[in-house]
Amino acid sequence: MVSVSIYRQSLQQLKTGMLVVPVLEDELKIPRPVTDWLQAHNIFLSELLRTTHFSGKLESHRLIPTGLADIPILICLGMGKLNDWDMEAARRYFGKVVHLAKELRVDTPSIYWDDQLPRSKEDSIFFPEVMAALGMATFRVTEFQTEKAEADDFDLASVQLVYPDGAAELEGYVEEGIRMAAAVNLARRLGEMPGNVLTPKRFVEEVRRLAQNYPDWKVRILDRGQLEAEGMHALLAVAAGSAHPPYLAVIQYRHPKAEETIALVGKGVTFDSGGISIKPSKSMDEMKYDMSGAGAVLATLKLVTETKLPVNLVAAMPLVENLPSGKATRPGDIVKSYSGITIEVLNTDAEGRMILADALAYVNRNYQPDILVDLATLTGAIIVALGHLAAGLFTNRNDLAEEFEEAGRISGEWVWRLPVWKDYGELMKSRIADLRNISSKPGAGSITAAKFLEKFVHQKPWVHLDIAGTAWEMPERSYRGKGATGFGVRLLYHWLKLFHGKEKEP
Ligand code: BES
Ligand code: MN
Ligand code: ZN
Repeated sequence: MVSVSIYRQSLQQLKTGMLVVPVLEDELKIPRPVTDWLQAHNIFLSELLRTTHFSGKLESHRLIPTGLADIPILICLGMGKLNDWDMEAARRYFGKVVHLAKELRVDTPSIYWDDQLPRSKEDSIFFPEVMAALGMATFRVTEFQTEKAEADDFDLASVQLVYPDGAAELEGYVEEGIRMAAAVNLARRLGEMPGNVLTPKRFVEEVRRLAQNYPDWKVRILDRGQLEAEGMHALLAVAAGSAHPPYLAVIQYRHPKAEETIALVGKGVTFDSGGISIKPSKSMDEMKYDMSGAGAVLATLKLVTETKLPVNLVAAMPLVENLPSGKATRPGDIVKSYSGITIEVLNTDAEGRMILADALAYVNRNYQPDILVDLATLTGAIIVALGHLAAGLFTNRNDLAEEFEEAGRISGEWVWRLPVWKDYGELMKSRIADLRNISSKPGAGSITAAKFLEKFVHQKPWVHLDIAGTAWEMPERSYRGKGATGFGVRLLYHWLKLFHGKEKEP
């Protein structure tokens, strides 16, 4: 991960491969210390910007060679209009710096900032978020390429945030942002790993490898034998067709001053073929992302541990592969879940809710969480409803919906609430068992899936996020390329930090 340092002295002493200077579209004004420094070297920047018709539009830029050894390149980078300068614009601005540096092959760029420049949120949110965007923009997966494209063969070494008289808190904010980026990038890397590499067993190995860095994690891995002994037959039914054995990974993180315990449960289907109810082959390859909920949960736990948020977390990741075979679960099969509720499997492709049912019931019974949150690439129907811009949010508590909506606005990881009215639950009643795993009528597929999950949380405060549309294929931005997005990590982090990271009274 790129390292970022703060530079607080005057520009006269600065040495850097390139200096990026922010310019608002409204006034095309260059920060005073920068113009002063340039004038001392007989460079009149506003003239240059005018003659080259620089607009100041967000992410547009002008490159000015200075002929000076200490700062050979100056980049004026557009911030757009002041009125549009929100967190998303700021993330795009800082992400763009990485692409410019890459293009120019400058591995030690600097970004100018000062107290006069606008921020769209308080510093404790603004700086971590923009630094996260910067770190996210450096993400790429190279481990499956033997012939690297030359243009790709470049990594940023270090970035300086040039901030004359910057506040003492900046280092902390920068560190937090870079940790956020590292966590998001971990979730993205897991999402990009194909089904033959990231098997349930390999996911467990990744958990164990991470756990070596965090001695206070209490890791519990349940293997097939233990899952059978515990009676997790909903989870086991999904794994039945695959040669790769299933696991339930549970990690506990405890903070001595924490008031609340929160369970994070992530769907971890390392590949979803649909099973006997097999999917069409078109785009089936995308089902390698079906473990993105588990990836986001693991990455969030890592981030919360590193930033020492005062909250107790239990992360549960049911890990399975959904394949057809002679041992696979059949449509019509009835299984008894961990909670005792029986399920008629009418479609083996509705597997996410099966493994979440057991994982939710298991953490609820064994870890007594105050709140349960699950993340899952659960339904194609949520893409029909919300596309790739927002996750579906389902909850049995209004205050939790509002908290997540606020965390979504901050992170740009938007959530949109859908109802969980009682009557939708009628559609999930089986004629012969307690529940059926698909609705008895077409329509409202994301809601009926949520109603299924709700049966396993026993009225506890609960939030279900359907991230099928947002875990990949979100619109490309400077800080987010094609493929896996790591959606949920920054959303959960801001939610925990803002609303559940309060230290208890001594
Ligand atoms: N993993 C899929 C959901 C999905 C679909 C994610 C498309 C991303 C893109 C899930 O396991 C699934 O197959 N859901 C079914 C449910 C149906 C059988 C009730 C679906 O959405 O079609
Ligand atoms: Mn499926
Ligand atoms: Zn699935």
